[in-house]
Amino acid sequence: MVAGIIGATGYAGAELARLLSGHPKTDKLIFSSVSFEGERIENIYPNFLGRVCGTLLKADEVVASSDVVFAALPHGVGEQYAASCMERKIHYIDLSADFRFDDDEATYSAWYGKQYQYPELHKNSVYGLPELNRKRMRELAAKGPVIVGNPGCYPTGASLGAFPAIAKGLALADNAIIVNSVSGTTGGGRELSRSFHYAECADSCAPYKVASHRHSPEIAHNFAAMAAMTGNAAPSLIFTPHLAPMNRGIVSTIYISLVKEWRVTTGSAAAALPPSKEIEAKTDEIRNLYTDFYRDEPFVQILPAGITAATNRVRQSNYCDISVHLDSGGTTLIVAAAIDNMMKGAAGQAVQNMNILFGFDERAGLEAIPALF
Ligand SMILES: NC(=O)c1ccc[n+]([C@@H]2O[C@H](COP(=O)([O-])OP(=O)(O)OC[C@H]3O[C@@H](n4cnc5c(N)ncnc54)[C@H](OP(=O)(O)O)[C@@H]3O)[C@@H](O)[C@H]2O)c1
Repeated sequence: MVAGIIGATGYAGAELARLLSGHPKTDKLIFSSVSFEGERIENIYPNFLGRVCGTLLKADEVVASSDVVFAALPHGVGEQYAASCMERKIHYIDLSADFRFDDDEATYSAWYGKQYQYPELHKNSVYGLPELNRKRMRELAAKGPVIVGNPGCYPTGASLGAFPAIAKGLALADNAIIVNSVSGTTGGGRELSRSFHYAECADSCAPYKVASHRHSPEIAHNFAAMAAMTGNAAPSLIFTPHLAPMNRGIVSTIYISLVKEWRVTTGSAAAALPPSKEIEAKTDEIRNLYTDFYRDEPFVQILPAGITAATNRVRQSNYCDISVHLDSGGTTLIVAAAIDNMMKGAAGQAVQNMNILFGFDERAGLEAIPALF
């Protein structure tokens, strides 16, 4: 099979090249670039020398010769390639936000400032979070070529961390779910920007785009989708991203107010107490519920008591590690979810989606265990 990558010189595109070069079903890789057309990819990324090689083509040439196309482009430039892929009857997996909102163009336009160029393409595209939409991806792939809107990096970890609480009716719909996420700098891509200069982001950690990050509507959509699927009311969202001086990884700490049936106490008066036996027992109960919810998921792991999710324990892997905690007041569930933003947050998840569309083993090409350092 020939896999094509449009935008291969960016961080997500290069990560796709690295992963697909080791994929058992990929015989050949072809790549495109605007800025480096005609140059060799291994000269742009010397870690590819002798390993992942080839000349960077035009995007149209990649589309014309591929059996599946991945687009790792800025938002708003990829729809034309999706249209060409549908004409050629091949699957198209888009890592930008262009196909993440299905036909909800109003939300996309409000947050991304762009209009759909090919509105009809958005009627049958699918949001590619396997843990939410695997069945729909399979159904669409059985009928013909599919456009997948690969999820954003923050929404992947935040959604996976909150889904079981929403689906099993633990989350109090009256209170917002609060998500505080910390990301490494590859999340911003390879394009230069001042806030990513070493002197401005090393040795510091700060929130950014407070109450205004573009991933907020995507996370809220996912909460609502899981609530609708399971007949529950969807809590609202307060999302605050932070930039940390590390290359890869996102850890999201998620605060979920529990419905009264799941609370250990009736109020917050006990908040200053040390954890009690009752808290430990309730935490075990919720951890078991989370484990059961994800029992068939190849890339979501619920951690045992005493281990907290951390970015370095999922590094370079497609896993989402989740740890479950309860505040000592007994009213708020605290979930930590860690992913590698380049993997489960981007390229790894895109390969997982390719595996689903083609009916391959979902783990194919993604079996590397995390690299702790
Ligand atoms: N980085 C992450 O952690 C992450 C996670 C999830 C999703 N994403 C999404 O994945 C996409 C790529 O992200 P990235 O981090 O890889 O960004 P990036 O490093 O800035 O790469 C963007 C790529 O698009 C190409 N490009 C730029 N403008 C173009 C245009 N007008 N037409 C065609 N190609 C153009 C660029 O290079 P050339 O000039 O060589 O063509 C480059 O290859 C974005 O939509 C991003 O939101 C990224």
